[in-house]
Amino acid sequence: MTATTASGAPAGASLSVTGARQVLRPPVDGLEFLRHDRAGELTTEGSAVAVADGAIRAFDPDPDAAVHIDATGCSIVPGFVDCHTHLPFAGWRAGEYEQRVTGVPYEEISRAGGGIAASARAFAQATDGQVLDQATGLAAEMLSHGTTAFECKSGYGLSIEAELRSLRLAVELDARVAQTTVSTALLAHAIPPGESADHWLDAVEAALGQVVDETRATALDVFVETMAFDNDHLARVGAMAAAHDLDLRCHVEQLATHRSVPVALSAHARSVDHLACLHPDDIAPLAAATCAAVLLPGAEFLCDERLAPARQLAGAGAICVLATDANPGTSPVVSMPLIIGLAVRRYGWTAKEALLASTLNAAWTIGCSETIGSLEVGKRADLLLLDGEIEDIAYRFGRNPVVAAVIGGQIAWIRPDAEVRVHLA
Ligand code: NIG
Ligand code: FE
Repeated sequence: MTATTASGAPAGASLSVTGARQVLRPPVDGLEFLRHDRAGELTTEGSAVAVADGAIRAFDPDPDAAVHIDATGCSIVPGFVDCHTHLPFAGWRAGEYEQRVTGVPYEEISRAGGGIAASARAFAQATDGQVLDQATGLAAEMLSHGTTAFECKSGYGLSIEAELRSLRLAVELDARVAQTTVSTALLAHAIPPGESADHWLDAVEAALGQVVDETRATALDVFVETMAFDNDHLARVGAMAAAHDLDLRCHVEQLATHRSVPVALSAHARSVDHLACLHPDDIAPLAAATCAAVLLPGAEFLCDERLAPARQLAGAGAICVLATDANPGTSPVVSMPLIIGLAVRRYGWTAKEALLASTLNAAWTIGCSETIGSLEVGKRADLLLLDGEIEDIAYRFGRNPVVAAVIGGQIAWIRPDAEVRVHLA
């Protein structure tokens, strides 16, 4: 940590942000999450925001603040929480993208040794420094697009030792970046070559104590698909998570319908992610459950997947969430504004629905909504200045509207043309 922030302001200084035409806030304080049938209750009245000691102190100007930010013409929203990413990973797989767009299915590429196995080989060949440098660069790109907290998944190790390496590198990454990070042990991502799924899960089960002791993993994750794990494996991973007091998250219903959601709900999953092929009968139970529906429109678009029934899930009151799914295969995307643009257009969502899904509900998914995810007095001051109204994020599709990102009350990133907005007292 440096003594000055991105704007040259002293670290830890009190901030007063004034002039914003919209400030996105929850209808009441203290919500863990907000179901999507209530997204319209988010408010956008303009106000000032005063920050001290890293937290939001008031929605009034603070004339005594050390740093003043002129937010004229801007909207202020909570920092984006990208609750589903596969950082850290090694290299990219652009060749596979070209194969996919010219007609080779993801599953065929995987079965031929590409896909997750290709990234596992790249991860094995890369040094720790190379993996960390790539992830640090991506985190910087994420920050400039407004991501102030993100999840890291393992899953490109495909051996216990390599999965532990990935989770340890995630801890090192956390120390390098401005954002808050959490770690998820995606120990059931692909079946390691030459292994059976059951035998691999025996090894995972035996190693879980070590994973919990030596890393900061707070959740277990599993990929249910024909070329990966099945619903029985999902139930087994759920039992392992419960035994170690970890959250259960799962990649389900991405490429085909397996009816995994009822299994995940029985296992008390914190989230079910993807859902492009969600069975219609599973919409109502999911919407009624205390389980996040994590939608990944980047993977849907770039993999030519079906579209998750996001409009129905939102209308039925699910805890809907958006994330990038940043990974070298299905979604080499780190921009939450782009994800919001896709969600609004393709799901038929309002700006408020997309923002709720990218902030408070995403923070709940990673167990952080007590401290981040919404603008409330007492919460950590993770907030963004956008150079327009919240509706402009999706409307001006593909453009980055983030003018400044404040993390814990410090200006962590500012667009060069916006530096004139910052005045030191
Ligand atoms: O979320 N579906 C499984 N896992 C990733 C893809 C991983 C990869 O292709 O490298 C996903 O889409
Ligand atoms: Fe994923």
